Amino acid sequence: MQDLFDKIYKNKGPLGKWASIAEGYFVFPKLEGPISNRMMFNGKEVITWSVNDYLGLANNTEVREVDAKAAEQYGSAYPMGARMMSGHTNLHEKLESELAKFVSKDSAYLLNFGYQGILSTIDTLVTKNDIIVYDIDSHACIIDGVRLHLGKRFTYQHNDINSLEKNLVRATKLAEQTGGGVLVISEGVFGMRGEQGKLKEIVALKDKFKFRLLVDDAHGFGTLGKTGAGAGEEQGVQDQIDVYFATFAKSLASTGAFIAGDSEIIEFLKYNMRSQMFAKSLQMQLVVGALKRLELIKTRPEFKQKLWENVNLLQSGLKERGFDIGSTQSCVTPVYLKGSIPEAMALVKDLRENYHIFCSIVVYPVIPKGLILLRLIPTASHNINDINETLDAFSSIRKKLEKGVYKKASKGIEKSVD
Ligand SMILES: Cc1ncc(COP(=O)(O)O)c(C=O)c1O
Repeated sequence: MQDLFDKIYKNKGPLGKWASIAEGYFVFPKLEGPISNRMMFNGKEVITWSVNDYLGLANNTEVREVDAKAAEQYGSAYPMGARMMSGHTNLHEKLESELAKFVSKDSAYLLNFGYQGILSTIDTLVTKNDIIVYDIDSHACIIDGVRLHLGKRFTYQHNDINSLEKNLVRATKLAEQTGGGVLVISEGVFGMRGEQGKLKEIVALKDKFKFRLLVDDAHGFGTLGKTGAGAGEEQGVQDQIDVYFATFAKSLASTGAFIAGDSEIIEFLKYNMRSQMFAKSLQMQLVVGALKRLELIKTRPEFKQKLWENVNLLQSGLKERGFDIGSTQSCVTPVYLKGSIPEAMALVKDLRENYHIFCSIVVYPVIPKGLILLRLIPTASHNINDINETLDAFSSIRKKLEKGVYKKASKGIEKSVD
C-alpha cells in the first residue's frame, strides 16, 4: 500500500510540472492596478487582453460608486445563511426578476458562483434514469456536473450536429428502456475558441427528438444579441432554451451567476439544488452591484457598441495580416501559432517584456500538441492604439517564431522541467 500523497510527490500533473519555472509569470501572474485596457505586470504597464470585462464595467465610475456604497451599507456578511434558511432578501428577489425579464424567461435563480452553480444545476435536473448528451469541448464546470450524474452520458463531437443526432438516437433508445428523459448541454459561446454553440440547429432537432436544452452562456451574456441577452437571442432561439445559465464573472464584471427558465423548473431547482441549499447566500454587495450593472447594460448600448467596434478592428486586423484566428463568432479572439510549449513560453515572455502585451497563453493539454493559442479578449475599454500596437507586435513575434528565435531562447526550459 502507498501513502496517499506518494503519487502527488511523483507526478505534479500536466500543468503542475511547469510550476517551478511558470508560476508568477505564465500561471498565477499578478495583474495590478484598476481593471482596464492597461494594467501593471511585474512593475511594467502592459496592454491587457486577458480580462473578461467585456463591457468595461469593472472600473466604471458609477459601478464603483454603487459597489462602495453597498459595501458601506451592508458590509460583506449580510445576509447570513443559505437563501432557504436566513439568507433571503427583497433585493435578491428583485435581481432575479430583472434578470429573468432581461433574458426573456419566466423566472431566474441566483447562484453563488457559476462553476458550482452549473454543476449543481446539472446534478439537480437529472436522475440515474436520465441521459445527458453534451458537447465534447464543454467547459470544466459542465464536465464536472456530468461527472456527478449516476446515469448514462454521451458526448457529441464539438458543434457537430450529425454527431449530436447520432447520440440523440442512442440516448432516446436508452431513455425508452430506463423510463428517463434526455438533457442536451451546449455552451452559448465556447470560451476557448470563440465559436457560438449551434443553438439554432440543436433546437431544430426538437422536432425529431424529445430532449431539454441547458445552455451555458457565460461569454454570450451581455455581448451577443440585440439587447445583449446572449447567444439564444442572437440566434433567435432564446425561447427554445429550457434552462439558460450565465455568470456575473464576465460582462457583469463581478461574482455570482444565475439560471433562468420556466417558473416551475426554477422553483424545483430552488428547492433541490444542493449548491444553493447548503451554502451561504450571495452577499448583498454583489446583488446590489449586479442590479446596477444590469441597469447599465439595458440603458447604455454604447458599451456593447464600443466592444464590437474593438472586436471587429482586432479580428479584421489579425486576418488581414494572415493570422489564423480559427472560426470565432464572438468577442473571444484566438490566435493560433505553431510551436512547442517552451517556445510558447519564450514567445510570451518576449510579448510581455519587450512589447508590453499581456494575453493568455493556452497550450497542450488544453489544445493539441504543437499548437500555441494566444487568446485575446477585447473589451469596451480598449482603444485603437491598443489594437494597432498589438497587431504590430503580433506580426513581429510571428516573424521571430518562424525564424526559430524562440527555439533558441527556450533551450534550457525543457531541461529544467524533465
Ligand atoms: C463557460 C463558462 N461557464 C462557467 C464558468 C464559471 O463561472 P464562475 O467564474 O462564475 O464560477 C466560466 C468561467 O470561467 C465559463 O467560462
